[in-house]
Amino acid sequence: MCGIFGEITSKQDAPSTVFSGLKDIEYRGYDSWGIAFPQNGSLKVIKKVGFLPKTFPLPNSSVSIGHTRWATHGGVTEINAHPHTDCKGKIALVHNGIVENFLELKVKLKNHHFKSETDSEVIAHLIEEEKNKGKSLTDSASYVFRKLAGMNAIVVTDGKEIVACKMGSPLVVGKLKDGFALASDPNALLPLTNHLIFMEDEQIVNLNSQIKMFDKKGLRQINPKFKDVPWVHVQSELKKYPHFMLKEIYEQPEVLNSIVKNSHEIEKVSQLIKKAYGTFLIACGSASYSCLAGVYLFSKFAKKHVNFSIGSEFNYIQDYITPESLLIAVSQSGESMDTLEPVVQAKAKKAKIVGLVNVLGSTLYRIADYPLLLQAGLEKAVASTKALTAMFAMMILLAFTVVGKRKEAEEIIKQSALEISSILKRKNQIKKLADRLKSIQHIYILGRGLSYPVALETALKIKELSYIHSEGFAGGELKHGVIAMIEKGTPVIVYVPNDETKSAMLSNAMEVKARGAFVIGIGPESNPVFDFFFKVADVGASSMIPHIVFAQLLAYFLTTKLGHNPDKPRNLAKSVVVR
Ligand code: F6R
Repeated sequence: MCGIFGEITSKQDAPSTVFSGLKDIEYRGYDSWGIAFPQNGSLKVIKKVGFLPKTFPLPNSSVSIGHTRWATHGGVTEINAHPHTDCKGKIALVHNGIVENFLELKVKLKNHHFKSETDSEVIAHLIEEEKNKGKSLTDSASYVFRKLAGMNAIVVTDGKEIVACKMGSPLVVGKLKDGFALASDPNALLPLTNHLIFMEDEQIVNLNSQIKMFDKKGLRQINPKFKDVPWVHVQSELKKYPHFMLKEIYEQPEVLNSIVKNSHEIEKVSQLIKKAYGTFLIACGSASYSCLAGVYLFSKFAKKHVNFSIGSEFNYIQDYITPESLLIAVSQSGESMDTLEPVVQAKAKKAKIVGLVNVLGSTLYRIADYPLLLQAGLEKAVASTKALTAMFAMMILLAFTVVGKRKEAEEIIKQSALEISSILKRKNQIKKLADRLKSIQHIYILGRGLSYPVALETALKIKELSYIHSEGFAGGELKHGVIAMIEKGTPVIVYVPNDETKSAMLSNAMEVKARGAFVIGIGPESNPVFDFFFKVADVGASSMIPHIVFAQLLAYFLTTKLGHNPDKPRNLAKSVVVR
């Protein structure tokens, strides 16, 4: 999603540092980019549609701000890309978030000339209005920022100084030997410095040769306190792989084994679950399926009821949260607004928060009372693979650990890692299946029990990457409507693990087969009803994990065969920091 990077330095390399900073955050997803810096006494703005090139010639300057845009208001055009300027081009501004009241604010700016269709440009003109009254850049920006509704971060420069304001959307400031840098992602600052300030909501920062920070309302000056973080910059290179998605699929056995190695860290969270009066699992997208799996796992293995809600729906069912509640928020990025909002609400009600998160230093990592790292390493492809299977493994560990069976969980997770390695060796079978399915319009996926979240994940991966319509259902729902969609040749994937769902799933397979479906069976044993069978060994409750890997590979091959880029699916971003 949108990314911000800025630098002010006594050296003259700010534009090129900003360019490399943007390269570091580009994996989060964007459709256009831009950089601003002072040149010959005025501000120069470069904007481009598409992805950042490997290199770009930029002049010397001591100040620069840059942005990667993921379109929300206004199409993907050069004009809509950031930085935006005021009427006279005296200030340049980059913005993350959505100004929910931008239309209301825009109508008051009758005498201003707007170039773009964005909500962001309105902020630049509002700041211009305040500056015209003789206010400083900091006072103007902080005054305007207080008028914006929504979760926003802005960074604005007049070519001499940089002012940043934050509410909801992340911003981190780094202290350099010869100046300051700031970014929406701490990892992007780590090549330059480990001295960081994570800005709090409603704080304002002014960067010049010095740093000045202002409190909540931007009125009172506060002492900027840089923290030394022991983190190292994480990078990921493609090496021998054609895409990050495939590389990350291959990294899964290693990730799972390292989770097992560090599984003692789960004990603390399992104690919290035991003590809590109500545990709620919250996440969105693929991550939410790991939470849904958690509900089944806790019931089946810990005989414990845990609640689950997708993050964006939690707002409407959170009235029963109390200080005794425990909220476990699960997120790869730790920045999904739909997951963070429930956390903020539950925190306000004094509930305890566990953050199961992959990105060190992310917002969820910092605001959780008990952050627990997924240890999947940097995930660059937009669609989650290794972080997701790490989430499923963590759910297994948690459910088993609550009843003192951590070792059993470790064993089946290790077995699932071995089974993934076996699947990777047999990936050509999945490639052949993709060949057969690539021109199809609809794919349906059925699973029951622990395989229900797997069916949902399979459908999401296929549709978001290959753009083939796919839907996942609980097997039991088939006769309640879905079966109407089955006709001769419709592909239906059925997950048939060796558990209590097996015979009901085989019946589902027969029912769709009787209507002409092309039945794709996944599980430890073949069956005459399957038209295509892919063997996945029985690894108990961990069978979900290799099943998901089958789905990842199928989605990957469908996508590449159709000529799409699996790392950068259309319209999607890696971290969804807007509501
Ligand atoms: C799908 C996918 C998304 C994410 C979702 C949550 O492949 O990756 O559905 O799972 O956007 O993101 P995080 O885990 O960063 O909160």
